[in-house]
Amino acid sequence: MTEVVIELSDVVHDYGSGKPALDGVSLSVHRGEFVAVIGKNGSGKTTLAKHFNGLLRPTNPAGRVRVRTANGLADPRRFKLHQLVPSVGYVFQNPDRQIFHDTCREELEFGPANLGVDPATTARRVSETLALVGLAGREEDNPVQLSRGERQRLAIASVLVMESDAVVIDEPTTGQDPDEARLILECLARYRSAGHTVVIISHDMALVAEYATRVIAMRQGRVLADGTPREVFAQQEVLRGTNIRPPQAAVLTAALGLPGAITVDDAVRELRAAV
Ligand SMILES: Nc1ncnc2c1ncn2[C@@H]1O[C@H](COP(=O)(O)OP(=O)(O)OP(=O)(O)O)[C@@H](O)[C@H]1O
Ligand SMILES: [Mg+2]
Repeated sequence: MTEVVIELSDVVHDYGSGKPALDGVSLSVHRGEFVAVIGKNGSGKTTLAKHFNGLLRPTNPAGRVRVRTANGLADPRRFKLHQLVPSVGYVFQNPDRQIFHDTCREELEFGPANLGVDPATTARRVSETLALVGLAGREEDNPVQLSRGERQRLAIASVLVMESDAVVIDEPTTGQDPDEARLILECLARYRSAGHTVVIISHDMALVAEYATRVIAMRQGRVLADGTPREVFAQQEVLRGTNIRPPQAAVLTAALGLPGAITVDDAVRELRAAV
């Protein structure tokens, strides 16, 4: 296992309704993981993710969060939010609200400039990050002219450009067509292969099966299952009672008594081997 970058211990978060949105969550995220948090609406995914960079804090005295900083693991309470950006970047569930400049270049320059990154380094990072998300050469375009998918990739780029150790992205593919959704996960996979940690929240089980190295399934503020996609999607009994449907490839091969396939490619291989 690589080193821990985010660690939660016994985290409860109660917004005040009396029924906690997070109900005692303990987990560690390790460097280089591609984590997908899944679960139905209201299960606590966003509340969980907002603890990863100190946007929210545990409401119970025993709850503890630590994130890796230049000086080792530390409680986010000790920092202002912007001081944690080198550790954990965050893309909100509705990223259109995150875009507010007239050109893609300005949109991407904003974060690094606030962090005090020098202009030459910022310019290099802006063009590299635009290329990473498939928007090479679009520096002077106005974000309002971009397609919905391109705007989503721009919003993601505006966080990736800060080169945080880890990025947390709340529903990067919701509302995108299948090709665009895949493109977005490809961008995140490229970011991860440059040595970063990626955490997404997603309802797209087929893409989760294909791209995530680890799946955390939430139910009513608790972690219901945590493991590789193969391990988690094999627990069909456990997942029953949530609205999580394992990828169709997994359902098909399990029904045929050939459990283990979670992607279509896997399923084709297993079925070919069986006939
Ligand atoms: N700011 C808030 N104030 C009060 N209650 C909240 C707040 N944010 C979330 N909740 C409640 O906390 C619970 C968990 O919400 P959360 O947004 O974490 O779920 P989620 O899994 O991200 O859902 P979705 O899939 O719809 O985004 C829900 O019952 C929700 O109504
Ligand atoms: Mg949410």
